Amino acid sequence: MAIQIERIQKDIEIINKFNATPEKGITRLTFSEEYQGATAYVVDELKQIGAKISYCQAGNIKASLPGTDQNGPAVMMGSHLDTVVHGGKFDGVVGVVTALEAARIIAEEKIAHRLPIDVVVFAEEEGSRFRWGLLGSSIWTGKLDLMRLSNIKDSGGVTYAEAMAKAGFEISEKSLLEPRKLRAMLEVHIEQGAVLEKGGYRIGLVEAIASIKHLDITITGIANHAGTTPMEERSDALQAAARIITAVEEIAQEIGANTVATVGRITCEPGQANVIPGLVKFSLDVRNPNKDILDSSVAAIKKTVKDICDGRDLEFKLTPLAESKPVSLSSQIIDLMEEKARERNVKALRMVSGAGHDSALFADLTETGMIFVPSEKGRSHCPEEFTRLEDIGLACKILLDTIVELAA
Ligand code: HGY
Ligand code: MN
Ligand code: MN
Repeated sequence: MAIQIERIQKDIEIINKFNATPEKGITRLTFSEEYQGATAYVVDELKQIGAKISYCQAGNIKASLPGTDQNGPAVMMGSHLDTVVHGGKFDGVVGVVTALEAARIIAEEKIAHRLPIDVVVFAEEEGSRFRWGLLGSSIWTGKLDLMRLSNIKDSGGVTYAEAMAKAGFEISEKSLLEPRKLRAMLEVHIEQGAVLEKGGYRIGLVEAIASIKHLDITITGIANHAGTTPMEERSDALQAAARIITAVEEIAQEIGANTVATVGRITCEPGQANVIPGLVKFSLDVRNPNKDILDSSVAAIKKTVKDICDGRDLEFKLTPLAESKPVSLSSQIIDLMEEKARERNVKALRMVSGAGHDSALFADLTETGMIFVPSEKGRSHCPEEFTRLEDIGLACKILLDTIVELAA
């Protein structure tokens, strides 16, 4: 079973040609023209090896290689093709191209397999367009009600369902995923941190994925004239937001224990130099491998929002968005992948993922495993994101060995 690393390189290059911001990094938002181009390329490659294509709930795509046991539970592998804004070339793409190449080898070399082998492309993993991360996999695995697709909107007010229909995405398989239909889910992904690189490892095996909580915070003040309003008479929404944002960092540092908290997006209205801000809205992303510590971190931040706004007589609103629980991945799958790595004289590192992944939503449905490959200098979610082709190739080989054994 000889994977072709040049094909993987070509896939990565072609997929990343579908990019809305060629002047700076990669931007490919769900159901955008770029997204349609990238997914159409991958679907076409899979059609060429005889895979049966299904367009599934919430815009997820599945390409099945039937096994001798047509109705057996599927061995699934894949990742996502949507990106953050001005992101990198490898986040999500590595999981799709390694699954694609593994599927090609299985088909070309006519490797017998009893169970169906599915390549999947999850929709809206990043939440870059609809501000709801892991949305496609949350719906498909039944964690979020389908009805949400009619009320989750992008910044232009377009609902997810409308955007899906406008992109011509016609659902051909309406059923949601359930345990009886799945044997395993495997995802290759860039580490997005520097643990592997610092430790000199080429392969990581994910034991657990941290929990994530997203919310939007809205502060309402009173817009007023910057020149004629005395300092003591202001209801300045941005001054309150600034103190809250500083407190977010202090709270995360104080709690420690792997808590990370980020304010990544902020809007300030009316956004004019000579007007006191009347309305500020900003995002909050809090993570921890331990749910209780996550919850206490979020509670501490919420209390700070209340204290600062009450103290300034300002209105505030907290809007809960995506959240995912901490999950442990399958020890059986980890053991198997560790054995496959050892057979290739590769020592894999067992580790925790601080990044969220679609696989987190499969852990309670089926045996789930993730293979990490090193990120150069730990950089990710930026144009500097880089992973070596030879590491991607090695992960593809381990993925292929594992898939073939699980589907035998
Ligand atoms: O945010 C994350 O952890 C992932 O990259 N979507
Ligand atoms: Mn990702
Ligand atoms: Mn990402």
